[in-house]
Amino acid sequence: MTRRSTFLAATALALLPVGAAAQSGELVLYCSVDETWCRAQSEAFQRETGINVLMTRRSSGETFAQIAAGQGQPRGDVWWGGTGDPHLQAAQEGLTEEYRSPMLDELQDWAVRQAETSGFRTVGIYAGALGFGYNADLVGDPSPACWADLLDERFRDDVQVANPNSSGTAYTMLATFVQLFGEDEAFEFMAELHQNISQYTQSGSAPIRAAATGETAVGIVFMHDAVAQAVQGAPIVTVAPCEGTGYEVGSMSIIAGGPNPENARIWYDWALSAAAQEIGADVNSFQVPSNVNAATPPEAPDLGDINLIDYDFALFGSSEERTRLLARWDAEIGALGR
Ligand code: G6P
Repeated sequence: MTRRSTFLAATALALLPVGAAAQSGELVLYCSVDETWCRAQSEAFQRETGINVLMTRRSSGETFAQIAAGQGQPRGDVWWGGTGDPHLQAAQEGLTEEYRSPMLDELQDWAVRQAETSGFRTVGIYAGALGFGYNADLVGDPSPACWADLLDERFRDDVQVANPNSSGTAYTMLATFVQLFGEDEAFEFMAELHQNISQYTQSGSAPIRAAATGETAVGIVFMHDAVAQAVQGAPIVTVAPCEGTGYEVGSMSIIAGGPNPENARIWYDWALSAAAQEIGADVNSFQVPSNVNAATPPEAPDLGDINLIDYDFALFGSSEERTRLLARWDAEIGALGR
């Protein structure tokens, strides 16, 4: 245990009112990263603080919808992980609480910018670039290197991506195409790509798990999710698309009016510490951590080497824009037949 986490654990225990441990010793966590990381992170916190974590895993868009539906009577305390856009929308809609953690000055600029954009109702906890991965046993030459290559007829019914309503990964793809190509061109591109899509999954990383087992040839996912499959021995090649690509600032927010606000802040400060941010790499989550003192896993795709767009989080995380783009996706892409 580091000195900081020992301190945090001691603070956590000191905050528990005597005789009310069962009541106040809980934290209801909505988690939007991969299930294994959700579990590892919850267990580490529980071990260090004695606070019992009740965790559920749902995709980013689904968690946003769940918190919006519970407004006024929230059951959750903290929303940890998942792409930043729906966290920004939650902030704008007053679903999440302003909190300026003392840990903010240990964070990368992009993580602090996310906090500033939201009026300190959310904060960046990791970053990762969007791309795709393909199964090298199924895909021969020429190897796909660009977004446009995914329109090739040879990938008919052999590409998967999630549904942008449920998944933050897929919304990042939608917003990336709009920023790369222009909005009408992006929708034309997605309509063409639709011919090759066998399935819009619920969760963002499901497509690359399907590619790893050979169920599909290509999965459009965050690059670190493709790397995770390769590290575990799957024949997956990770691609940073040649046209350029978008990225996520994975975020964390405290749910407004949640049942355990003190424990929520204890989790929040802890989750921004270097030691807590290094847990991901142990369970094959290779995002870039936001704490400047946390080691970036060597497997993490180097964001400096990738042609990244200047993603406009304030715009694409706004309530109006996200709602409008999802409605347009439903009408123009989701509604298309086979
Ligand atoms: C995976 C990635 C995360 C991302 C998350 C979004 O877990 O590793 O970096 O934030 O997907 O999940 P979603 O299911 O909302 O696309």
